[in-house]
Amino acid sequence: MLTESKSVLADGTRVEDLINRETREVSMRVLHDRELYELELERLFAKTWLLLAHDSEIPKSGDFVVRAMGEDQVIVSRDRTNEVHVMLNVCPHRGMRICMGEAGNAQVHRCIYHGWAFKPNGDFIGAPIEREQMHGDVFAKSELGLRKARVAVYGGLIFATWNIEGPSFDDFLGEMKWYLDMLFCRTDGGLECVGPPQRFIVPANWKAAAEQSASDGFHTLTAHRSLMETGQFGNDEESIYANAPAMYGIDIGSPHGHSLRCIPAETTFSMFMGMSDLKNLGTEERLQLLPPPGIPKELVPQLKTHMDAKQYELLAKAPPQVGGMFPNVLIAFIYAPREDGKYGGALTLHTYVPKGPDHVEFLNWIFVEKDAPEQMKRDMVANAVRTTGTSGTIEQDDSDMWPHQSRAARGVIGRQGTFKYGAMLGQNKPADWPGGAYVYEGFTKDDTQWDWWQYYFQLMTANNK
Ligand code: FES
Ligand SMILES: [Fe+2]
Repeated sequence: MLTESKSVLADGTRVEDLINRETREVSMRVLHDRELYELELERLFAKTWLLLAHDSEIPKSGDFVVRAMGEDQVIVSRDRTNEVHVMLNVCPHRGMRICMGEAGNAQVHRCIYHGWAFKPNGDFIGAPIEREQMHGDVFAKSELGLRKARVAVYGGLIFATWNIEGPSFDDFLGEMKWYLDMLFCRTDGGLECVGPPQRFIVPANWKAAAEQSASDGFHTLTAHRSLMETGQFGNDEESIYANAPAMYGIDIGSPHGHSLRCIPAETTFSMFMGMSDLKNLGTEERLQLLPPPGIPKELVPQLKTHMDAKQYELLAKAPPQVGGMFPNVLIAFIYAPREDGKYGGALTLHTYVPKGPDHVEFLNWIFVEKDAPEQMKRDMVANAVRTTGTSGTIEQDDSDMWPHQSRAARGVIGRQGTFKYGAMLGQNKPADWPGGAYVYEGFTKDDTQWDWWQYYFQLMTANNK
């Protein structure tokens, strides 16, 4: 059990003092501090729900992928009854790694050290030379399985947590679920992952990426300016301000640090369809003319059957498109320009997996609707690689910032600086807004990133949990 005293760092600084709620600042020390990092592994990555994989990566019995929950490596596998399990990839005998690869199919996971064997659900099968009972007589076989995490599968996305008795996955999402359902649970066939996630390591603290992913919209005008200057987003240099993606919109925040940006249809229709007046377009017409990213026209009727009337209407007026899930997920379900001047959908999720205080592994899953036409799927993969992939035009801009912020925090003076969240809209939910959670309408400000830090510090200073 953690104690209050562990919320005080070795030099006497209280973790709580790294955030100033009055001036809305966060100490840059958080980007480079080994002690704080160890605390994050305990209080965040061993406690909250974490995105690990997608159903479509392990479709068959015995399929598995190896992923990380913080610094703990886990096996995500499917058993013969189609149930998904997440187990620590560590042998209970003497701590050897069990799965040496990254993915595969196996009905038996055998440790290469002394040969203990485990089922795809983590249960211990036995040790070699059965008559000698090499697993000993201290523990029953049922006590020698792999350590199992608690699993939730949502819209095909596989999440897990070590907090076995903690909040349910639905509690963790809270009112954000209503919005996220519009992205992940919208068709009969659901989403499918195209190949394994792209992976690369960035020399940066994971929070530089995660904080930006809590719907920082402010940077689009500057960090992504080249997208507009080169005509990839927007039409000409004069319209940069108007076309900067989603500066005006509705940001949704959450007490659990999740966030989403709802982008008004006026913005996307003007950017991609050249249409500025939508007054005479009803819900159905809008969705047929410019369906949500990734949805082919023939799947539009399915949207209605998977949503309530208010979700359906919001999808046509101001659908959620980008955002993040606490602690380390980025969501981008967007339209992106193509080389031929047209546009196409790109559906991607990133996770930022910490590798020490100074490095983060970036995983990028590319999705398509399972029932989309093959040509559209190919087009969307190309789109996602070109924009939000590891070498994508958008992602290179974003990930260019994180190492510099993290580098700055290594300096004795640099780390005395702060992140500032002085610009706030404040909750201002329009009277006719159909959804819950925190609603911030207007020119995007610091609200959702500040929400992210509030929850970060809530967990980092939590007592005995
Ligand atoms: S460490 Fe795995 S069988 Fe010995
Ligand atoms: Fe960005």
